[in-house]
Amino acid sequence: MDQKKILVVYFTQSGQMLSIARQFCEPFSSDPNYNVTFEELKPVSPYPFPWSAFTFFNGFPEAFYEKPIELMPFSDKLNDRYDLVILAYQPWFLTPSPVFSTFLQSDAGKKVLGGTKAVTLIGCRNMWLGAQEKVKKRLKTAGSELVANVALVDRSPNVVSLVTILRWLLWGRKEKFWVFPAAGVSEEDVAVSSKYGQIIKDALNDNKWAAVQQKLNDNGAVDVLPNLVLMESRGQRAFGIWSRFIGGAPIGSLSRKIRVYIFMFLLPTAVVILSPILAIVSTLMLTLKKEELLRDVNYFKGNALR
Ligand SMILES: Cc1cc2nc3c(=O)[nH]c(=O)nc-3n(C[C@H](O)[C@H](O)[C@H](O)COP(=O)(O)O)c2cc1C
Repeated sequence: MDQKKILVVYFTQSGQMLSIARQFCEPFSSDPNYNVTFEELKPVSPYPFPWSAFTFFNGFPEAFYEKPIELMPFSDKLNDRYDLVILAYQPWFLTPSPVFSTFLQSDAGKKVLGGTKAVTLIGCRNMWLGAQEKVKKRLKTAGSELVANVALVDRSPNVVSLVTILRWLLWGRKEKFWVFPAAGVSEEDVAVSSKYGQIIKDALNDNKWAAVQQKLNDNGAVDVLPNLVLMESRGQRAFGIWSRFIGGAPIGSLSRKIRVYIFMFLLPTAVVILSPILAIVSTLMLTLKKEELLRDVNYFKGNALR
């Protein structure tokens, strides 16, 4: 058998996305029939980690409307052709992180993806549906076929993971404390992600992709919760308005600062208030508008673009 070539494109701040990508790729890396190449994306001006609250929220408008940033030059590995490209990315503000958005919009990104099958591998808190829609559109533009998606999330309740992730991102403290679990994707979930890699490997071997997403979903690779579908669709709409409001003021101006501070206060408050309300609404909708909501849930579990 000819050696098959896999490209893994990734970006990470804390290292979480890289551990997920490594574990996921284990079935490929441990098999001499596969050649796995990792390409790390790096911004020219690194983002802080941990973040200051202001810098975190100040980056929101440009991230949300996918404004390209300056990246370090890509390596020559991107000039090669691959049997499969794995995009290991994280959402920022319901959008692929700016580093990844930039890659997907770049000529080199479109070239390596064009005519090639792609798998998305997401590592995030729990809100990735909108980001994935934006990635699907970029892949379509590049002429790449999205054959599978795996989304590893923090499985804690929404408000709990909001507290732990803000503590992690703003103070650098990931470990569990008081009644709260450790932040991020659990070590157990990272550890088992090689089984999803194995499913992809089998599909690539047989070149049979039709049932692969269903198989991944049956094994827990993608879980779409109805209340988060509702939360994200409201979030996308609200973020559209907020990004225009904050982004409307020049970066560095007093007006921008004031707008960022208002957003910084309102966003976590909205999540805390809306989470329990939307959990109730989604339970109601599952009785009243069951078909509509379940149609959305099923759509987000798949790779089609509507
Ligand atoms: C600026 C920023 C915005 C984020 N927005 C989201 C989001 O919209 N949805 C989500 O599930 N996670 C969000 N996260 C969490 C990331 O997706 C990711 O899980 C976390 O930053 C760790 O990834 P790393 O491998 O880059 O360290 C955000 C993180 C950052 C830094």
